[in-house]
Amino acid sequence: MYLTKEEEKILSGEKGEMLARFMKLLVKIGERFKAEKLIPITSVQIAGISYKNIGDPGLEFLEEIAKENVKTKVVSFMNPAGMDFELWEELGISKEFAEKQFRIIKALKKLGVIASATCTPYLAGMLPRFKEHIAWSESSAVIFANSVLGARTNREGAFTALASALIGKTPYYGLHLEENRKANFKVKVECKISNEAEFSALAYFVCKYFKKGIPLFSGINASVDELKLLGASLASYGAFALYHVENITPEAYMQDEIEDKINVCENDLKYAKKEMENEIQPEIIALGCPHASIKEIKQILSLIKNKKLKIPVWIFTSRIVKKLVEESLENEILEKNNIKILADTCPVVMPLKEIGIKSVATNSGKMRFYLLNQGIKVYFDNINKIFEKFSER
Ligand code: F3S
Repeated sequence: MYLTKEEEKILSGEKGEMLARFMKLLVKIGERFKAEKLIPITSVQIAGISYKNIGDPGLEFLEEIAKENVKTKVVSFMNPAGMDFELWEELGISKEFAEKQFRIIKALKKLGVIASATCTPYLAGMLPRFKEHIAWSESSAVIFANSVLGARTNREGAFTALASALIGKTPYYGLHLEENRKANFKVKVECKISNEAEFSALAYFVCKYFKKGIPLFSGINASVDELKLLGASLASYGAFALYHVENITPEAYMQDEIEDKINVCENDLKYAKKEMENEIQPEIIALGCPHASIKEIKQILSLIKNKKLKIPVWIFTSRIVKKLVEESLENEILEKNNIKILADTCPVVMPLKEIGIKSVATNSGKMRFYLLNQGIKVYFDNINKIFEKFSER
């Protein structure tokens, strides 16, 4: 792989041992994927920052890096952490967990990473443009950036994203190359997709046939929030990092003729929904996976307005979005329905079982996938149905 003189210097340790370690990682990845060079990036999003996921070894490693004189070279955001930075005690998170989570955040902040703690950085001020090269790692953020915004990123791991943040570059391979962004199968949707849960069900159905590749959807209309949910599920039930939607996403019109094709009819969608359903009695309703937008929070609250729910509602979002909606919130509605708007975290990366939650209702296919894998029972449906089912009559 070609390296500039400056990159050679970093690799040889002239700029310090720590930077050399991260440069070695990028070069190794680049060589493995036959990248011709490193390219500059404009932003980084770093996943794997919850104490629940990385534990003491991850915490100690980050503190070791933070002791060195290294800083991020580009705007770098962090993914959700293991708790809400303000409401952790109220949620029943232990002091020991909180203390260690705060040490992780402190180490990352010392490196220059912004404590955004969100998987929707594009709703919180980090918005790349079409064809901009970035290095993001949370799978729903990656697929949104590639597909909806037309930015270019591979699905980075926690360490490669951190390496890119500290070096300011990424190896030029995979989805950074134009030729690798072509769709290789078509999904012709022949029925109406009527709500957010059906977008997750569509992704679930597609992933029964294809686990990877780049789909080109036709026959759907979707809002930004629905595209966010569709991508999150494609990236969970399959290993997708890019999709196109005819007449909606920016690169859809640039696709070649494609032979491989699946058609999705109403019965297929019903079948997928049926497989995803599970009749359980949830302890909480968890919404906002990926982190909710202002519009979604407003919609949720207006749907709840005239209802009295039997179980608490937790809405997950970024701190910045929470701050923006907070001022216009009617506390009465929140209190009447036991609604909490939580920031900095999500049910998948917080120690849900440890705080006593073993069953959840959600409208997100992605949340369903990961919670089931953690042994949490999940009731899955669209928001309307969830509110109808779990409100007092
Ligand atoms: Fe985001 Fe957590 Fe869902 S990181 S995409 S809210 S699983």
